[in-house]
Amino acid sequence: MDDIELSNKRVFVRVDINTPVHPETGELIERTRIQEAAITISELKESKVVVGSHQGRVGRSDFVSLEKHAEALSEALGKKVDFIPDVFGPAALDAIDRLRSGEVLLLDNLRLASEENQELTFEQASKTIMIQRLSKHIDACVLDAFSTAHRASASIIGFAEVVPTCAGKVVAKELRALEKIFSIEKGPYVTVLGGAKVNDRLEAIDALIANKRADKILLSGLIGLVFLKAAGRYNGKIGIENEEKYVLRAKQLMEESRARYELPIDLAISKNGSRKEVDVFSLNNEKVMDIGEKTIERFSKLIKGAGTVFMSGPPGAFEYQEFSKGTEMLLKAMASSFGTTIVSGGHLSTALQRYGISNQIDHVSTAGGALVQYLAGKKLPLVEALERAAQKWGKK
Ligand code: 3PG
Repeated sequence: MDDIELSNKRVFVRVDINTPVHPETGELIERTRIQEAAITISELKESKVVVGSHQGRVGRSDFVSLEKHAEALSEALGKKVDFIPDVFGPAALDAIDRLRSGEVLLLDNLRLASEENQELTFEQASKTIMIQRLSKHIDACVLDAFSTAHRASASIIGFAEVVPTCAGKVVAKELRALEKIFSIEKGPYVTVLGGAKVNDRLEAIDALIANKRADKILLSGLIGLVFLKAAGRYNGKIGIENEEKYVLRAKQLMEESRARYELPIDLAISKNGSRKEVDVFSLNNEKVMDIGEKTIERFSKLIKGAGTVFMSGPPGAFEYQEFSKGTEMLLKAMASSFGTTIVSGGHLSTALQRYGISNQIDHVSTAGGALVQYLAGKKLPLVEALERAAQKWGKK
């Protein structure tokens, strides 16, 4: 941000404030990414700041507008953030043109624009209507969405081609910390995967295996159920898109190396709102809410014996007190491990804060999928965009 002139300029800041939303109330469950984004935005005191982010995925319950995010960002910054319910239409462009230095506005969910939901080349991205229209109303771009660094979407890779673009504070902090970790990490490599993004987890597994970063993979959440089904230990319906395809892939992965995978032994379900633990074999289409005691014990032991341990996605619905035990105990095992520990994703960073153990983890990243891709040695589109920007706009 010191490399390009940002004072009194109209600056588009691409952050990632994609936040878990409570399925019933629609409230934002946590604010870690919003607080991080505020650090970068508060540096731009003399600029006209246009903030952009996506939220959720089209068709999912968390695909919502950013109105509540604007309120949370105002609180984090201690100053008003105007929410504009538009992405690149006349309302958005007029609001940008009216901005004065020191003011901040937040555009609506960038994924409302279909172009943002596609994987694009640099050229395609720079030619999208979103980038073409917005870039005529901005002077510079700050890329700070590290947790979306693995998506080649228009707002991540398009601006660098057409306006001077630099890295924000979050991106710089993450890349520095990860480089340091890479220089000290050692095996055995244990990966702990939970949460709801099954496709992402399968991609993560492929990438980590290819890069020899997965001696043991401990599975819970929906990906855990997929593997349990593939192993013939669960016969119910998981109820996710492409269920059969994922189960088949899990089967193939276990055929290649069964010993690599640790699956839940017992699980917690909700019985009239209370926690009830059941053996995996006696699970009967009930909604799984957490891992059980025996699984917690087995997984904790493996985590503590790791040389490097990476955890992404919570093992249970920790937003409900009754079902937070798995998440709490596995994170505490991470905190007491002598290995190098990396915790990834907004859900888990919030949980770490709740249990007061964030400072006992070597690196806590608000990124999920992007971090996995980085750890697996993949080139991130956002980093490539920054490299291209440095070539094109950097100090010669
Ligand atoms: C994330 O939470 O990993 C990022 O915000 C990217 O979201 P996505 O997986 O829906 O692209």
